[in-house]
Amino acid sequence: MISTLQSRMLRGADGDPAPRLAYGADYNPEQWPRDVWEEDVRLMQEAGVTVVSVGIFSWARIQPGPDTWDFGWLDEVMDLLHAGGIGVDLATATASPPPWLTTAHPEILPVTANGETLWPGARQHWRPTSPVFREHALRLVREIATRYQDHPALVAWHVSNELGCHNVYDFSDDAARAFRLWLRARYGTLDALNHAWGTAFWSQRYSDWEQILPPRLAASHPNPTQQLDFKRFSSDALKDHLIAEREILKEITPGIPVTTNFMVMGNTKGMNYPDWADEIDFVSNDHYVHPGPQDRDELSFSANLTSGIAAGRPWFLMEHSTSAVNWQPVNVAKRPGDLARDALLHVAHGADAVCYFQWRQSAAGAEKYHSAMVPHAGRDSDVFRAVAELGATLKALAPVAGSERETASVGILYDWESWWASEQDSHPTSLLDYRQEALDWYSALLALGVRADLVTTRADLSRHRVLIAPVLHVVPAGLAKELTCYAEQGGHLVTTYFSGIVDENDHVWLGGYPGALRDLLGIRIEEFGPLLAGESVELDDSAAGTLWTDRITVTDADTQVLAHYRTGVHTGRPAITRRPTGAGSASYVSTRLGVDGLRALLPRLLEPAGVSSELPADVRGAVELTVRRGDGERFLFLVNRTDATVPVSGLAGDVLTGGTPGTDGALVLGPREVAVLRQPAG
Ligand code: GAL
Repeated sequence: MISTLQSRMLRGADGDPAPRLAYGADYNPEQWPRDVWEEDVRLMQEAGVTVVSVGIFSWARIQPGPDTWDFGWLDEVMDLLHAGGIGVDLATATASPPPWLTTAHPEILPVTANGETLWPGARQHWRPTSPVFREHALRLVREIATRYQDHPALVAWHVSNELGCHNVYDFSDDAARAFRLWLRARYGTLDALNHAWGTAFWSQRYSDWEQILPPRLAASHPNPTQQLDFKRFSSDALKDHLIAEREILKEITPGIPVTTNFMVMGNTKGMNYPDWADEIDFVSNDHYVHPGPQDRDELSFSANLTSGIAAGRPWFLMEHSTSAVNWQPVNVAKRPGDLARDALLHVAHGADAVCYFQWRQSAAGAEKYHSAMVPHAGRDSDVFRAVAELGATLKALAPVAGSERETASVGILYDWESWWASEQDSHPTSLLDYRQEALDWYSALLALGVRADLVTTRADLSRHRVLIAPVLHVVPAGLAKELTCYAEQGGHLVTTYFSGIVDENDHVWLGGYPGALRDLLGIRIEEFGPLLAGESVELDDSAAGTLWTDRITVTDADTQVLAHYRTGVHTGRPAITRRPTGAGSASYVSTRLGVDGLRALLPRLLEPAGVSSELPADVRGAVELTVRRGDGERFLFLVNRTDATVPVSGLAGDVLTGGTPGTDGALVLGPREVAVLRQPAG
């Protein structure tokens, strides 16, 4: 359900009490002369903008020197926006420290693993653990919060910006000190730390806390548990900064919701967002498309995972792009239709706000070729017309605001600890890509038209009839027990290669792989069989595997072999197994099958759970279906994944947006079009 805090942001600043989907952008008026601001507000109204994030990179402008403040311009911007009926998600402005601060205090600058300083000149050049930075940042937060606490335009606080985007791993002396404190809190004694880190290996035993360092550039592979703990610590250090800012905001404005924009996308893995989500009033995410064969599957995957992090509650899309970005090797413009489809895909997965980076395309600076809602070409442009059209569509979708994700039969477990640990060095292969494996399962389900929820280990896993846990590498005893109960009580667990291998200290579960899941799966593996790049093996169900194989022995009389290896060193041995247990089952896939192989396999894994597509057979794969559930009603989002026209028949409901009526009551989706149907919830 929609929280009071969240509804404030959805209502915007124009006093309209009805919830709606928020629409807007990062707004950087300090880059423009005063007369442009008035035009900005006019164009925002024309486009249907309801909220903008202001002040994200304004520290140097707000505080030009240690004891000078310049709020006049921001007062004016806030007033103008409010007069225009536009709410402000006001930034704490701490993302990019000004030159006077870094000149006076170069000790706030982050240091790489090689000992190089990251100098000012770009942004986010601060150490999360620097007490000096913290003091200056919190002073700024207090000044801003005090000044705008009663401003009617203020609808939410935006802490910093993309915490950890450029500074997640800092190896400075401040970091070393904070890391030691964090380790003391985790382990209590040096003996416990020495055990957890396995320091008997390579003469690494510590006899004093002061000897411990971050995993700086070393002569060979740094201790793996030290690396894993440094990842945990680095995520916690940023979370600590988030909490410190939030505390001040809550002290001064308890009634204003606080958020910070996550980066659930691509390979951004430094921040353990499921662990951060409880610290803010609503989850926000930034997402940028990386052009490629699975690009929109990846968008859907990221939006879905953001919803999982938000525990199914509505979240805010705080940034994405109207067209090209500026930071990829080649920055491809979006095609007609992409702007609306991309935005609505996020809404389909629970976003209650659609915001862009940024409102007006910069004329100068590193992001001048990054698209915006108002491009360099100005109002008379296809981008602005598409932006205004989307504003109208979002208005029509107002009834969706506040609705939650309806649980799907299939869950895909996405585990940050396994992501971190499975990709560390000194492993059987350096080619393993945790996120890609999970994405391939998701793509295969999309291709079959089967709805799935990305979930984290904090979720109630029993809500899904099938739980796919790709590369679930770190399995503490408690999780092994939970998964065993899940299967015994009727859940169907599916897991893959390199799962169940280590505990929370990255120590191998002994006695044969897959360690913690060995009994549940009813198999035993004595040795891994990773494949070289370009190498593949065939399975007797005609699939091909890459990356990995296992030498599997079946250890339980009930374990069924679903496929054997037909080629390679394990020819004739099991490749895919399933063990019925209690009312459910546990299946194991020992090789990387890729999207096509998984698509062929999945029906056999879903069938015992009675799970299949809810879509008419002729549109499976062409259309992505997601469902949001409100008070007594459901919203069906139908996303045309293809560049062709797709008629969808047999789905009842009132059309809120999209599609055109076809023959026999079908709803015809144009290329890449999204339609939303409203129906009573059964
Ligand atoms: C984000 C950032 C924005 C802008 C955008 C460009 O990482 O928060 O400030 O830089 O990327 O794509």
